[in-house]
Amino acid sequence: MTDTTAASLEDIAARIPSMGGHIIGDRLRRSAAQVEAGRNIVEIGSWLGSGTAYLALGVRDSGKDTPLHVYDEWRCRSTHMEKARAWGVEFDENQDTLPWVKEALSPFGVPIHFHQGDIEKVRWNEGQIGLFVLDAAKEGEPFLYTMQTFGPSMIPGETVLYMTDFHYYKHKPDGKFTDQRDFFAENADHFEPVEYEMEDHICAIFRYTKPLDFDAAAAAFRAQGRASFERIARQRARQKSLMKKIKHLFRR
Ligand SMILES: C[S@@+](CC[C@H](N)C(=O)[O-])C[C@H]1O[C@@H](n2cnc3c(N)ncnc32)[C@H](O)[C@@H]1O
Repeated sequence: MTDTTAASLEDIAARIPSMGGHIIGDRLRRSAAQVEAGRNIVEIGSWLGSGTAYLALGVRDSGKDTPLHVYDEWRCRSTHMEKARAWGVEFDENQDTLPWVKEALSPFGVPIHFHQGDIEKVRWNEGQIGLFVLDAAKEGEPFLYTMQTFGPSMIPGETVLYMTDFHYYKHKPDGKFTDQRDFFAENADHFEPVEYEMEDHICAIFRYTKPLDFDAAAAAFRAQGRASFERIARQRARQKSLMKKIKHLFRR
């Protein structure tokens, strides 16, 4: 039988392969514990469940049944294989990783809703969002679509947002990854920084403060004709064509 004491769950969380969730894990846990009753937690980009595990620990700490909605394709990309191997976990390219993630997170015993697929096909009808963690769809149309989809269910004066690669642009001299920075700067009246610059991570944390018309804000941003939109669209088209080829090969 799995040991589900708090200390053993912390050990389980710490062993889940991570692309960063474990570094901000304590903060995620605290924020999840503070979510008010009747709200949802949304995490975009769970990979193998590292950040999700810390959110689940926070839900347990709170003693509430806060639903945790997590979104990912859960398809092992070639670039993910090496990262998982570094944590002692092996996957094949294109393997469906969701069964592994469900198993890894099952000891936490909190309601986790897994939404598998492309984030740009998602609809949100689950009610108000108390905590929003973005660790995918960080640029271009996927980013705007995500903000438009989930933004209207955020609560002014309450919802906390973790934008995990917010400061990544500083490591990219070519202007990549500036969409989040610029979107939040242009809508600064609606979000206040809770922790803008972390010492140990490139994440920025905001609180949603004042109602924003997300559709209008997205339309204004889209109209800027930013290079990222073109680049991400090309990148996604390449990915889709590769997926088609892989599926075709498996069918033969
Ligand atoms: C940076 S990783 C998430 C890391 C995770 N939060 C952690 O702490 O270890 C990003 C994840 O988002 C997923 N992803 C990227 N683009 C996506 C999309 N358009 N739709 C759904 N999932 C996507 C990737 O497959 C990957 O698992």
